[in-house]
Amino acid sequence: MTAKSVVATLRDRLPFLRWSVIRFAVGGPTFARTGQVGDGREEAAREYVLANSIAGEPLSVLAAYDRFARTRSVLVNVGDEKGLILDAAVSRAAPSLALELGGYCGYSAIRIGRALAPGARLVSVEFSADNAGIARTLIAHAGLAEQVTVVVGTIGDGGVTVKRLADEHGFGTGALDFVFLDHDKKAYLPDLETILDAGWLHPGSLAVADNVRIPGAPDYLRYMRESEGKSWRTVEYDTHVEYQSLLKDLVLESEYLG
Ligand SMILES: C[S@@+](CC[C@H](N)C(=O)[O-])C[C@H]1O[C@@H](n2cnc3c(N)ncnc32)[C@H](O)[C@@H]1O
Repeated sequence: MTAKSVVATLRDRLPFLRWSVIRFAVGGPTFARTGQVGDGREEAAREYVLANSIAGEPLSVLAAYDRFARTRSVLVNVGDEKGLILDAAVSRAAPSLALELGGYCGYSAIRIGRALAPGARLVSVEFSADNAGIARTLIAHAGLAEQVTVVVGTIGDGGVTVKRLADEHGFGTGALDFVFLDHDKKAYLPDLETILDAGWLHPGSLAVADNVRIPGAPDYLRYMRESEGKSWRTVEYDTHVEYQSLLKDLVLESEYLG
């Protein structure tokens, strides 16, 4: 084993030895309020990815993003391990219209966007204007600006963003094929209920939820388990929190049955 691979293994297995992980834990309340850790890592990630990836090549952009998160500062991207679960779900849904809740700095939007068929679209809803700006820059850098739109807002804002999605982005009855929930964990269930009330889903639409174990979305998990075989059919994927292999996480992929 080389010294480099020993460092990589330690970083992966013992994430709490990393300063950026400790700093993230300290910055938890700031992150909850602003959507950023508070030490400038999101802007640093943008600069790193722009300087170290090939324009118009989404895979190169994602690889640079993953490298930054593993070797510089950890980011709350869905990451490369859970990203494979997301990729497979997008491929199963083959969406014409997809929605992401919680865009952060564009990593998962690029992951979803690169898998879309020609003419298909992803709308990513992100409540931080600063994160949305970084996401737009990197989505354009990846060559996906036509397919992926970032909307600053939240589904829980009393109807403003829902109306915008309907009026400006083609969200209507049965139009939504795929939803990725990766925002405020307490908002997963109420926001899904708002989407259901709007009538946007159709039988066969998929909802994928990240971080169901850590930080945890217990209400959403209970709802999906109670709805099993009635209005939803769910596969639970045991996986790990992004960019390390110590902490376990759970991703749910749920098919709407109508
Ligand atoms: C875990 S990160 C998303 C990571 C991203 N999906 C990725 O994998 O690249 C959560 C994001 O959700 C945003 N957020 C938090 N609450 C939100 C809400 N109610 N609506 C929309 N965005 C929200 C935060 O600002 C943050 O950028």
